[in-house]
Amino acid sequence: MRFPLKKVAVVAAVAAFAIPLSACSGSGRAGTHSGASGDPAGSQLVGVAMPTKVDQRWIQDGDNVKKQLEAAGYKVDLEYANNDIPTQGQQLETMITKGAKVLIVASIDGGALGQQLDDAKAAGVKVIAYDRLLTGDENVDYYATFDNFKVGVQQANSLLTGLGYLDASGNKTGKTGPWHVELFAGSPDDNNATFFFNGAMSVLKPLIDAGTLVVTSGQTAFNQTAIQGWDPATAKKRMDDLVAKSYADGKTKLDGVLSPYDGLSDGIIASLTAGGFKVGDAGWPVITGQDAEVASVKQLIAGSQYSTIFKDTRDLAKEAVSMTEAVLKGTTPEINDTKSYDNGKKVVPTFLLQPVVVTKDNYQKALIDSGYYTPDQLK
Ligand code: BGC
Repeated sequence: MRFPLKKVAVVAAVAAFAIPLSACSGSGRAGTHSGASGDPAGSQLVGVAMPTKVDQRWIQDGDNVKKQLEAAGYKVDLEYANNDIPTQGQQLETMITKGAKVLIVASIDGGALGQQLDDAKAAGVKVIAYDRLLTGDENVDYYATFDNFKVGVQQANSLLTGLGYLDASGNKTGKTGPWHVELFAGSPDDNNATFFFNGAMSVLKPLIDAGTLVVTSGQTAFNQTAIQGWDPATAKKRMDDLVAKSYADGKTKLDGVLSPYDGLSDGIIASLTAGGFKVGDAGWPVITGQDAEVASVKQLIAGSQYSTIFKDTRDLAKEAVSMTEAVLKGTTPEINDTKSYDNGKKVVPTFLLQPVVVTKDNYQKALIDSGYYTPDQLK
């Protein structure tokens, strides 16, 4: 959950959010696509289950998927589950009962929907995991996501650039630190969280082992750093504790914080601000993030957050829609990864999109020139 002060900005951003349909794979006319059964697409229902409306990104995801599916001629049941696992399960059951032919699912807890996946299979409904892998069940047909390990690598590298270990081109500057940092990870029930963390640690661990980076708290394991439910308030509380324990006496300077998600960065920033740290001072740390949410891009511009990771939800929606069209036509969707996403029961065929690091130096090109945001949204 984002902090209340962000809500106005988020709502305004979403209201102003323009979704170009240039990426849409459909003809824009209902009833022109045929399903596997020969039904026109216009008579086919697709269920789209999103986790929460609190984060801007999922609203954009839901809007993009719905618009692109409708433009391709499908009926859409788009539901948000308020980050409540039983609600999402119930929503999926209802979609199956209503006759959905495909379920596109961005789960809350990727391992909690086994019953629904089995019910989908029994009803002949295809399942596409959206952004987050569905785990512990074989009834997952395809997975559309970003390269989640790479997201973690990018977060770690941007932390190192912000600290001065790497230059803007990713080359070593020759500075050796040591830098004092703290690490945060995402929600343990989200398969992505370990991918982000493992990606980041593939870069950071050798530097921690070498003493270039010092995690003052000593908390370097996923289970010590994970924030259940991606909850900003929990991240704030953990940062409060870390500051009180290691940094409040002023003897050790906090140089950087690895944060895997803009909402957690909000909690970290709120903690530091309340703890007397001042944005713009030499004592303000480098803080990473993910999702390029409007409020967070403003923080990049203002200097309180160093970086975020942009994952273009228009492209992810396009992938999910083209997978939907393929399974309904009985053809094989385009996939580009058949190894990385073992869900415990099968390796789910996946299409991976590429994430992009955004800082105040390239947000204009990445986010405005690409048409993702308007300049006004970021004022
Ligand atoms: C998504 C991230 C997002 C996080 C919190 C992850 O599964 O991949 O983009 O920041 O959930 O919502």
